[in-house]
Amino acid sequence: MEVVQHDVLLIGGGAAGLRAAFAIVEADEGLDVAVLSKVYPMRSHTVAAEGGAAAVIDADDSFDDHAHDTISGGEWLCDQDAVERFVEEAPGELIRLERWGCPWSREEDGSIAVRPFGGMNRERTWFAADKTGFHLLHTLYQRALRHPSIVFHDEWFVTRLLVHDGRCRGVVALELQTGRVATFLAGAVVLCTGGGGQVYPYTTNGQIKTGDGMALAYRAGVPLKDMEFVQYHPTGLPFTGILITEAARGEGGWLVNREGYRYLQDYDLGEPGPEPVKRTMELGPRDRLSQAFVKEMERGRTVESPYGEVVHLDLRHLGEAVIDEKLPFVRELCRKYEKIDPVEELIPVRPVVHYMMGGIDTDLDGATSMPGLFAAGEVACVNINGANRLGSNSLVECLVFGARAGRAAAVAARERLPPADEAVFREGHAERERIHRGILGREGGEERMPALRAELREAMEKGAGIYREEDDMVRALEVVRTLRERLERVGPDDASLTFNTELQGFLELENMLDVGEAILVSALHRKESRGAHQRRDFPDRDDEEHLVHSIVRSGGDEEPSVELRPVTITRWPPEERVYGSGEGDGAAHGSGGEDGAADGSGREGG
Ligand code: FUM
Repeated sequence: MEVVQHDVLLIGGGAAGLRAAFAIVEADEGLDVAVLSKVYPMRSHTVAAEGGAAAVIDADDSFDDHAHDTISGGEWLCDQDAVERFVEEAPGELIRLERWGCPWSREEDGSIAVRPFGGMNRERTWFAADKTGFHLLHTLYQRALRHPSIVFHDEWFVTRLLVHDGRCRGVVALELQTGRVATFLAGAVVLCTGGGGQVYPYTTNGQIKTGDGMALAYRAGVPLKDMEFVQYHPTGLPFTGILITEAARGEGGWLVNREGYRYLQDYDLGEPGPEPVKRTMELGPRDRLSQAFVKEMERGRTVESPYGEVVHLDLRHLGEAVIDEKLPFVRELCRKYEKIDPVEELIPVRPVVHYMMGGIDTDLDGATSMPGLFAAGEVACVNINGANRLGSNSLVECLVFGARAGRAAAVAARERLPPADEAVFREGHAERERIHRGILGREGGEERMPALRAELREAMEKGAGIYREEDDMVRALEVVRTLRERLERVGPDDASLTFNTELQGFLELENMLDVGEAILVSALHRKESRGAHQRRDFPDRDDEEHLVHSIVRSGGDEEPSVELRPVTITRWPPEERVYGSGEGDGAAHGSGGEDGAADGSGREGG
């Protein structure tokens, strides 16, 4: 079997992976670094990030303010030592990218432009129009291509971690183009594979985001942290789930219900004002906005569409010039996928899964509980995001913690290790046999993989959606377990080795089932409501019992186990999370009347 050796393996070619690559070669020019990516790196999901990247820049802003916004946005479940490092290192990372050629949008005087973003008290979101992820990734990738010590293995799908004597020694990966399976050995492995939004039916996440890195670690005995916290973004397009960036609201867009009424004023998110008000109304945090959507739907105030209930995002008052300058991609997406022009028409939107706050349990340097294994970016949980991530913190998290993990991996890669022994090679061999004979060689399956995947997604939405309840979660967990057994009975129609998307889908579904299990088990354990985890049967936040992280470990064929770990509080003791000055959740407040006349937006309903 083919064996490839590198000093460090980076799994995933998005922002975290590429940033880690530079940190490694800067720490030690002698190290050779390989990026293994399931897709060509410019197709990593970083490319889809739109709105921006947060870092303190203005003189009236401060690290403490950014930290407080992040911690309160995360409903006090963030580890505050991690948040402090994050906010301090964020500006340096964005300036570094500027030096490397990232075309940040500018003010008239040439200074970096920043925009307001949800849950942020100050304007600190740097942006490159509304294609920030594209430009950021391009900057990193072009530079990485020029570096002699960074090599790329594109379209290699990692299916297993190789572990020997408790240390990660490498991975087994499948080349999608040829179907060949090879063993990659290294002194350190850094997982940067992103999240797993594809576990749900409606998501902003690309098809590739199937929780691969989380599942690899989980199956190898490395725990996952805070998996119950799954973020819904309030403005996805209804059918495709495509993201309509929060920047649209940052630039002044309004969310209106079927009566044309800016309904967020009924949900403790402040009142409409002449200017976009920071941290209130449409710029409230995503968990609150998504929950408000569900409440509006339950009150019959949303709009029926061919793809479920929606509300409307209204950008018309911004005017064509602002939309074209600041939100050109929003206009392009609306035209292409909804056949509407936001300059003149309302955009139908609904909450869709966007981000996983949980992930592989790491320390501040990306180290996991397994020597030689590191993780950074969405796949990891450091934890700076707590129970709800603030928009525009994620790209910067990839950079700050990608760099930290890279530096730590460089140290690990320099350790003198005994040569990999036969047991490691046998594992690689066994994985190849499993894929080529065990899966591809299976005859006449009575089950179909796409049908099983659809059942998983439906179960997850019902069991672990925006609002949750014990019975639904238990039912969803039963579905996940049955699907695991049924997956064993899937026999592929396509047994070829060249770009076998059915095989890839099968391997991804295995990962999605593990991620689904971890989410549900953790969610059942947390008997309170906090951030993105809202339980109808436990509607209150409970700091006495639940100001803790949940650490879930796979039980293999047995039940997974959950341990609790206290949250690190440094300077910001838990407080009530306040965004607006209003009271009540909408039930006690008028909606503008059944006729929609007093819509609070000062305009006719749409
Ligand atoms: O809406 C957005 O542009 C998303 C940004 C983010 O998730 O950080």
